[in-house]
Amino acid sequence: MKQSHILLVIFPVQGQINPSLQFAKKMIKLGIHVTFATSLSVCRRMADDKGLTFLGFDDGYDDGFKLSDDTTKFMTSIRSNGSKALRDAIVAAAEEGRPVTCLVYSLILPWATEVARELHIPSAQLWTQPATVFTIYYHYFNGFSDEITEKSDNPCWEIQIPGAPPLSKTDLPSYLLPSSSELDNFVLAASKEQFDLLDTEPSKPKVLVNTFNSLEAEALAAFDRYELIAIGPLIPPAFISGEDPSENLFGGDLFEKSDGCIEWLNSKLQSSVVYVSFGSLLRLLKEQKEEIAGGLLRSRRPFLWVMRDSEEEEKLSCLEDLDKIGKMVTWCSQLEVLTHPSLGCFVTHCGWNSTLESLSCGVPVVGFPGSADQGTNAKMIEDVWKIGVRVKGNEDGIVESREIWRCVEEVMDGGLKSLEYRQNANKWKGLAREAALENGPSTMNLKAFLDHAS
Ligand code: UDX
Repeated sequence: MKQSHILLVIFPVQGQINPSLQFAKKMIKLGIHVTFATSLSVCRRMADDKGLTFLGFDDGYDDGFKLSDDTTKFMTSIRSNGSKALRDAIVAAAEEGRPVTCLVYSLILPWATEVARELHIPSAQLWTQPATVFTIYYHYFNGFSDEITEKSDNPCWEIQIPGAPPLSKTDLPSYLLPSSSELDNFVLAASKEQFDLLDTEPSKPKVLVNTFNSLEAEALAAFDRYELIAIGPLIPPAFISGEDPSENLFGGDLFEKSDGCIEWLNSKLQSSVVYVSFGSLLRLLKEQKEEIAGGLLRSRRPFLWVMRDSEEEEKLSCLEDLDKIGKMVTWCSQLEVLTHPSLGCFVTHCGWNSTLESLSCGVPVVGFPGSADQGTNAKMIEDVWKIGVRVKGNEDGIVESREIWRCVEEVMDGGLKSLEYRQNANKWKGLAREAALENGPSTMNLKAFLDHAS
């Protein structure tokens, strides 16, 4: 039998690189040959990884894309350079006797599907957000868009989308709301193009989702048009099943890690530390950061706060006071932090990786969503999975220090609600582990998909 060769094409941002690397690693363990295609700047940071073949294409930015960059230039570059690189790689692999058996592409890369079709290669989507968000997108493009566009500004409005809880405007993926931002409109247009392409597939399109069956059973079964296959949590096994820690290292960090995080956590009491991080893209206003600082100072609990390099130029007014009770870092090994015994809660922007990592490590959450899928994830955290609370902003959209303090205390104070969040988080941790076991549902789902894709 010919060996399966999966060509993974991944959008070059941290939130898609991390789960995709774990996906690649799982497949390599199962004997599959994997080529990992993404932008050159990202490949350069990962090229020392073993077992993976990398294929880099130019994205027009030597240091990788940032939200402040020119979206159109970036998207145009990756589309033309990426399509050519994929075509050449698929032809070369066939000539070398290792033909690509399936092309798997992550979000907003409709051109990857087009290349697969042109060269008659089967393809599948890797969805790196929750299944709930997938069902919302699907229904938006299939009959719900007018209502959302016309009515979502009404504060009493809620929409019931199959597979999702009742959603108000702030719970919806931000790209589905009317917007004047170039990036928002680009993401929506690329998503539409992607869904249109899926709709024209002759057989039922397969979508691999970074989730697990028990976490999102309703969303996974919400509609029949596509086959949603839960293969998550795509997290290094050592962090959820205690395998050899050297297995954790897969070199996917696009930022330099700060020193001393774990030593600092080692010096703290069990379940005492508040971890604060807003992922790899979100940029908070200085005013908002001052409010967060105020909330942390008021709570007097030790905290570890990730403030990326690019944000550092705006120094906070109370840095000296913050340094007395907490530690500020520019990047850390988030999973090492989340699994550390001194960790008490996670103040997060609710990016899907951070959310799934928190659920899988049993860490209660203060949800502080920004854009993209984060509002939906925060809704699920608070109302469905019940592992924490979501902050409320004031009329200007700023979350004030008092509110941050209130939410941190609700999760950390050891009262009834706090115990319930911790218990629920532990329950999800157990279910995440079960899903990822060698014979667990997500691994079996992946094996079944690979059998089909060989
Ligand atoms: C983006 C979107 O913003 C998010 O909404 C979407 O769901 C995925 O893509 P990002 O904002 O970077 O992702 O957030 P998130 O999904 O949480 O991914 C961040 C990743 O970086 C996580 O895997 C986290 O473990 C890692 N991280 C973050 C670190 O390893 N160290 C850090 O210091 C901070």
